[in-house]
Amino acid sequence: MTSPEADVLDRAKPPPAPALIALSGVAKTFTARNGSAVRALDGVDLEIRPGEFVSIVGPSGCGKSTLLRMVAGLDPCEEGTLVLDGRAVAGPSGDVGVVFQAANLLPWLNVRENVRLPLRVGGRRAAEPARIDALLGMAGLGEFGAKYPYQLSGGMQQRVGICRALARDPRILLMDEPFGALDALTRERMNAELQRIWQTSGKTVLLITHSISEAIFLADRVVVMSARPGRVLRELAVPIPRPRSFDTIVSHPAYAALACEVRGLLSAEGGIE
Ligand SMILES: Nc1ncnc2c1ncn2[C@@H]1O[C@H](COP(=O)(O)OP(=O)(O)OP(=O)(O)O)[C@@H](O)[C@H]1O
Ligand SMILES: [Mg+2]
Repeated sequence: MTSPEADVLDRAKPPPAPALIALSGVAKTFTARNGSAVRALDGVDLEIRPGEFVSIVGPSGCGKSTLLRMVAGLDPCEEGTLVLDGRAVAGPSGDVGVVFQAANLLPWLNVRENVRLPLRVGGRRAAEPARIDALLGMAGLGEFGAKYPYQLSGGMQQRVGICRALARDPRILLMDEPFGALDALTRERMNAELQRIWQTSGKTVLLITHSISEAIFLADRVVVMSARPGRVLRELAVPIPRPRSFDTIVSHPAYAALACEVRGLLSAEGGIE
């Protein structure tokens, strides 16, 4: 029961912004070549508000990448509703940048040309060089613009992939284990950079990760999925002030409690050996 004062305060608050990404009852069944059906997702309900940073964790094979591909418009949503900015997702959109597990750079283009590619495809030319240079600098690749993918480490290639996803300045950034191939220190640096980009740009980010610490460090909210068929098991708010740093976050009492809860949920789903 709320006090009359709290009630007045509640009513004075502006209503929460409508969801930018909204999934309701989303399900997905794949049919294998031999005709057998694989139920990847089942009844996924999830709302992400503009400017929010949401991390998704879940056991391997629970449908996280499938979910992200559907939000990106790369796979159709045939069961349930999937709405982006008030409209049903019907295909890929310039409003959405995607970073996958592998960078998938074009080997015959240098770093700068790879990052520029979405701008060329989108027919945008203005302010390109400065924008590309700023992105490369942000990712610690300022001196590598003229190099080719084969001349870069796997981690550097992945950073180029992140720059490419940001090239068109999308409102929404979808990331599928983008830092899995990076060494631990580079990964922490990229996490800190991503936090900074997110804080200054107002982008809405959906990040899939297998790292509990990464999920908590970056997110406003951690979504834990069940084993396949994936559904939302729990949504946990991360009440830790920003900017966060890896040096200090581990001593925040909420951090240990959250990490423990996420680990327990994943363990119960068979997601942690
Ligand atoms: N195109 C496809 N055809 C058939 N089955 C598929 C297809 N894509 C995914 N699946 C199946 O759907 C399930 C979910 O796959 P998905 O790649 O989304 O899982 P994930 O949670 O991203 O796993 P991981 O954490 O290992 O990346 C798996 O059983 C997978 O084999
Ligand atoms: Mg995956």
